[in-house]
Amino acid sequence: MTDDELLARADAVAANAYAPYSNFHVGAAIVTRDGRVFEGVNVENAAYPLGICAERTVLSRAATDGVRPGDVEAIAINASPCGGCRQWLHEWKLDRVTYRRANGDVVTHTPDELLPDSFDL
Ligand code: THU
Repeated sequence: MTDDELLARADAVAANAYAPYSNFHVGAAIVTRDGRVFEGVNVENAAYPLGICAERTVLSRAATDGVRPGDVEAIAINASPCGGCRQWLHEWKLDRVTYRRANGDVVTHTPDELLPDSFDL
């Protein structure tokens, strides 16, 4: 699975976002080192802070199947990851994060480039 193919999966699944409040549909797709692909979307709630981002949805889906930090090779997102999700991407030790910036550019970075000098416990 190439990063372009992963981004195409993220673009497609974004149609399933539950985002009635922002109307901002986000899709994310990950590939594990053993080749499994998971997809996730943002899921909003009337109590706004309770909504969950697409990145956290997809990592939570994978965790439910036993995937753990270090097992995920790459993620693709159809939008720039928020600050909180950057902390999740750091925790999950991905090799690459590919996303489409607001201006349409597609870029790939490491989690540490997206969140330098980050917090660990
Ligand atoms: N959102 C994500 O799903 N991922 C991000 O990294 C940025 C923001 C969602 C949250 C909310 O449902 C909508 O985009 C608008 O902020």
